[in-house]
Amino acid sequence: MNGVKISAVGHYAPAAILTNEDLEKTLDTSDEWITTRTGMKRRHIAAENEATSDLCIAAARDALRNGKIAPSDIDCYIVATSTPDYAFPATACIVAAQLDAVGKPAFDMEIACSGFIYGLTLASSLIRAGVYSRVMLIGAESLSKIVDRSDRSTAILFGDGAGAVVLEAAAENSFLSSELGADGRRPETLCLLGGGSRRRLTAESLKAGEQYLRMEGREIFKFAVTKMIEATGIALHRANLQKSDVNWLIPHQANKRIIDAAAKYLEMPEERVIVNIEEYGNTSAASIPIALSEALTAGKIKPGDIIVFVGFGGGLSWGAVTWKWA
Ligand code: UT7
Repeated sequence: MNGVKISAVGHYAPAAILTNEDLEKTLDTSDEWITTRTGMKRRHIAAENEATSDLCIAAARDALRNGKIAPSDIDCYIVATSTPDYAFPATACIVAAQLDAVGKPAFDMEIACSGFIYGLTLASSLIRAGVYSRVMLIGAESLSKIVDRSDRSTAILFGDGAGAVVLEAAAENSFLSSELGADGRRPETLCLLGGGSRRRLTAESLKAGEQYLRMEGREIFKFAVTKMIEATGIALHRANLQKSDVNWLIPHQANKRIIDAAAKYLEMPEERVIVNIEEYGNTSAASIPIALSEALTAGKIKPGDIIVFVGFGGGLSWGAVTWKWA
């Protein structure tokens, strides 16, 4: 067996909801602007005492329940996140321990919104190489904790949540191809400036707001459309697939206009593109697995369907994976 398949999927979103109308009350913005410019209506927001590991655990439990899998049957835990509980230790270690899987290998991956795509490539490769038989991959974020609530250009965009998939060895191979890329020449295009080894948090840096996420929205917009199209084209070519072979496009949910522009170029009709941005906003590494989980629950995806997962974000980074659903 040197194939891999996704055998279980789950997700979790915090109970509290922040609507466009709520944002109108505190910011110089409007439901109309947010809806037409982004497609977003609501975002789920983690409670003050709810950290990223808590979101991961809830999503992981959902996946384990759906797949009737015990936590100890998972050989390795991977969490893709930019909002870990701590700079270290890895959030995945906390998650595995809370799931009663102490002793299993566990680590985090940080590639911002591309985290799930990179993680899918890595986890599939670990399984296909025979290193592990079952890997839990979780994309999770508590972005509300690093958003400046007074900055209308970012406060309206981001939400919290987690999506989890269990990958396991299979006779048939679902992982058809991958295209990943990164360009770190201008990290400040999308970054959390303070708190790392380059710029420590001091009274001055806190005053300057370096504890909050920053983004050059227009730059990212152009880059996102280009890279989604490019990466998808390369991944399809590698898998020897045509655009018309694709049943489902599951893109990172950053902006409905970005998704529409990429879908148009890829000739994907609206009904074959999974979009849930209205409900969650941008949940970075969590957006693709949450969208997958919801599409499965809705009974949309059938065995044999070809899926393109495609994402982009901080780094800058991007990636696409083609997948045959088992
Ligand atoms: O996960 C990956 C990371 N993030 C992304 O992928 C985000 C990519 N970028 C975007 O989605 C879009 O660039 C945004 C949604 C962030 C912004 O939309 P835009 O159409 O690019 O707007 P803009 O930044 O060009 O701003 C247009 C106007 C500006 O006013 P002026 O200069 O034309 O007077 C902004 O000040 O809209 C103003 N504006 C707002 N107005 C009302 C910016 N934010 C808001 C707001 N409400 N929330």
